Amino acid sequence: MNIRIVAWTPEDLQRRLDEVIEVYGEAMGHHGNDLQARAGRFHSHVRRPDVRGVATLTSEGRLLGFGYGYPGGPGQWWHDQVNSGLTEEGRRRWLAKPFEVVELHVRPTAQGHGLGAQQLAGLLRMATGSTVVLSTPEVPEEQRSRAWRLYRRFGFEDVLRHFIFPGDLRPFAVLGRDLPYT
Ligand SMILES: CC(C)(COP(=O)(O)OP(=O)(O)OC[C@H]1O[C@@H](n2cnc3c(N)ncnc32)[C@H](O)[C@@H]1OP(=O)(O)O)[C@@H](O)C(=O)NCCC(=O)NCCS
Repeated sequence: MNIRIVAWTPEDLQRRLDEVIEVYGEAMGHHGNDLQARAGRFHSHVRRPDVRGVATLTSEGRLLGFGYGYPGGPGQWWHDQVNSGLTEEGRRRWLAKPFEVVELHVRPTAQGHGLGAQQLAGLLRMATGSTVVLSTPEVPEEQRSRAWRLYRRFGFEDVLRHFIFPGDLRPFAVLGRDLPYT
């Protein structure tokens, strides 16, 4: 199959938001009302002019995966939560000029062929700022998910571990690495 990974603008993400949500649902195993509720935040994210996106498309234009992120800053929910969990030194280290990777997903049928890695590399090359940060659910060391292996392979270090975001009972890890990515 002929596959290409392309940069997506906020307009591209908005135009194909239904497919973006479908891919997210498949990748994360969310369906129906639960999926729509969880994906509700996408609607505002993709309207941000500073969103940087990547998409994996087949030659027929089918969406196999996507990722996006944007510069983080005070007043944004995720940024403020992470900020509250860090020491002053941690804030200076990670949140001075951060780029947040907000979503990164590949349809299950297309996983394991390096697409997630190429999407992440594409996003990191487009990222602005001095660090890149993201959060991912904690999983036991011996059951490291593909996402964990991917982030470690890209040099992501621990920023916060076992962090609880309001409204979610699962503990999360916040991971980060320096920019630029070359
Ligand atoms: C996390 C996710 C985006 C990774 O995407 P992916 O396409 O499956 O990841 P990759 O294929 O790049 O990496 C997976 C494996 O393929 C291998 N690989 C890398 N390049 C490859 C290539 N060119 N050809 C074949 N295999 C390759 C990697 O070594 C990796 O092996 P590992 O998992 O045993 O370490 C995807 O699995 C996903 O959507 N998961 C569910 C949602 C999720 O967890 N998202 C992140 C939320 S924080």
